[in-house]
Amino acid sequence: MNDPKRYLITAALPYANGPIHIGHIAGAYLPADIYVRYLKANQKDVAFICGSDEHGAAITLRAHKEKSTPQAIVDQYHQMMGKSFADFGIHFDIYHRTSSAEHHAMSQEVFNTLLKKGMFEVETSMQYYDPEAKQFLADRYIIGTCPKCANDRAYGDQCEKCGTALSPLELIEPKSTLSGSAPILKETSHWYLPMGQHENWIKDFIAEGKLEGVQHHITKEWKAHVLGQCMSWIDGGLQSRAMTRDLDWGVPVPVEGADGKVLYVWMDAPIGYITNTKVWADQHGKNWEDYWKSEDSRLIHFIGKDNIVFHCIIFPIILKAHGDFVLPYNVPANEFMNLEGDKISTSRHWAVWLHEYLEEFKDKQDEMRYVLCSIMPEQKDSEFTWADFKDRVNNELADILGNFVNRVFVLNHKYYNGIVPSIEGYELDQTDREVQDGIALSMKTIGEKLEAFRFRDALSEAMQLARWGNKYLTETEPWKLQKTDPQRTAFILFQCTQIVAKLSIAMEPFLPFTVKKIKTGLNLNTTQWTDAAHHVIIPTGHAMGQVPILFEKITDEQVQLQVAKLQQSKAMNSASVAEQKPNITFEQFQQMDLRMVKVLAAEKVAKTKKLLKLTVDTGLDERTVVSGIAEHYTPEELVGKNVLMLINLAAREIKGIESQGMILMAENAEGKLCALGADKNVQPGNVVA
Ligand code: 2FM
Ligand code: ZN
Repeated sequence: MNDPKRYLITAALPYANGPIHIGHIAGAYLPADIYVRYLKANQKDVAFICGSDEHGAAITLRAHKEKSTPQAIVDQYHQMMGKSFADFGIHFDIYHRTSSAEHHAMSQEVFNTLLKKGMFEVETSMQYYDPEAKQFLADRYIIGTCPKCANDRAYGDQCEKCGTALSPLELIEPKSTLSGSAPILKETSHWYLPMGQHENWIKDFIAEGKLEGVQHHITKEWKAHVLGQCMSWIDGGLQSRAMTRDLDWGVPVPVEGADGKVLYVWMDAPIGYITNTKVWADQHGKNWEDYWKSEDSRLIHFIGKDNIVFHCIIFPIILKAHGDFVLPYNVPANEFMNLEGDKISTSRHWAVWLHEYLEEFKDKQDEMRYVLCSIMPEQKDSEFTWADFKDRVNNELADILGNFVNRVFVLNHKYYNGIVPSIEGYELDQTDREVQDGIALSMKTIGEKLEAFRFRDALSEAMQLARWGNKYLTETEPWKLQKTDPQRTAFILFQCTQIVAKLSIAMEPFLPFTVKKIKTGLNLNTTQWTDAAHHVIIPTGHAMGQVPILFEKITDEQVQLQVAKLQQSKAMNSASVAEQKPNITFEQFQQMDLRMVKVLAAEKVAKTKKLLKLTVDTGLDERTVVSGIAEHYTPEELVGKNVLMLINLAAREIKGIESQGMILMAENAEGKLCALGADKNVQPGNVVA
């Protein structure tokens, strides 16, 4: 396929409901930024588009939890995410937002066009409605008991305990999270996209890379897991999908009488790519339609794997149904990156937040960019650990790249006062030629890998060049030759200076901050990729400046601190993961008789794993309590301890023993139950007030 005239590169619009973490970066934003930097270094016409995804239940739910408004939530995170990206060197041409007026207008235009063309079907169905809150409930707003594993906090779309995908109607005893009341089923109408009608062409588009006879792209260019996910969706039969929702936050459905209805967030969010291109184009005297409606424009979406079907199937159907738009040329989605042995999770606070990293590791953007690119989950899930971060920064960035660049600067200054030496009259031998050919081949390989979205390989090849430069210096030992063979010394350093210049070109997409320092040191302005093909980038007589130490070593203490911070935030948060129960009155609280009691005796209850029979002194009497703590405490550990107890809980018979009250314990992050004592002296019978 011929080179396109323009590139339209998008990175998934992140939900504006929380900060950006390194999993997001490794998944979509870093590969997109690397690719765009490479294209721009090749003087391509590129629009790099991103922005905040500000609609949908993810946002309203957060607002509800924080007793805030959706607008306040998105204002906060839009600003914060935009800043984190910019500070990290992710250089979008525009970072706009879907709550903007421009976006509402654009999505309504697309919806209306589809409507006029008869691309929707209106269907009526019964959906859960909260009669107290007077609104229909998004799936996430309904909790109930999972029919598979009996978890009583399963959501209407998924049980997070057993992972089963659910529909709200499957939940046992559903409850609205808005009011706590049981929702009722109520009739509602929505506009559906009958995706089944598009199955034939979408199948060709995905499987063969064909579109109406045009060889749009070739199958082998899809990543295997992207192709696999799409084909399994298509083979399962494409279902109609509602493109509207009953919600008061989003893009209003532009149809008379559709009050209280908004576009489905997965309909409006990808249209955000179009809106944002238009806003950018208007600001820069360009025509957005050149990028979206011209055959010689190449659209590429960078996303994480949870977004694949939306970008490869649903959005293309919308684009084609509309009629004028280009379809994605490729969607090089990444898989997931885990963190210290666990899935990254915003809600469980298991994440490295980008804004915190930027604060705690000042001016170390490239260290994180390097490590994230080295372990990018391109073909399968990968794993970030702080120990590995340290090793890669110290052993690769500092010891290889930083060291090589430093040696070349030092030697040039030592022997030539920083003026690139002359190699006139020097006859290249066979080895010298091989060296030059090797460098040229390496640069070519890096370019090819970048074009094939093989960012890890490209970076590793670039690092190989620096490693190779070090080896060349070590083996040729110019410091020994200087007296006996000054001409060869000059050639070696001339050659190494060219390698540093080439590295500044090759590394720019990955390490833009470092390359800036190297280029300033070299007094070099250009980083056009085309220059990389020349043997000589920096000529004889060119005056070099100085370069600072490029990478400081990461210490064990820094690693330990970060790991401890993660553990701590998970532990602190696990308590707040359980949602607050409905409020009670002070009178209700007063009805509970909570006291410190002393454990006088403890023994395991026969034929049970979990139960201990305790005899406690309540200050009033001695009584028996059966407690489910045998997996957390041995009887010996408890005897003599003062613990907290609810003494007026109605007596119950457990395994034939009458239990008169309940011992209270806190469950920590690891699921361990911990007895609650007092931090000053208390006696059995002291009342909790
Ligand atoms: O998964 C997400 O974070 C979505 N907000 C991605 C949307 S991408 C595009 F459609 F805007
Ligand atoms: Zn379950």
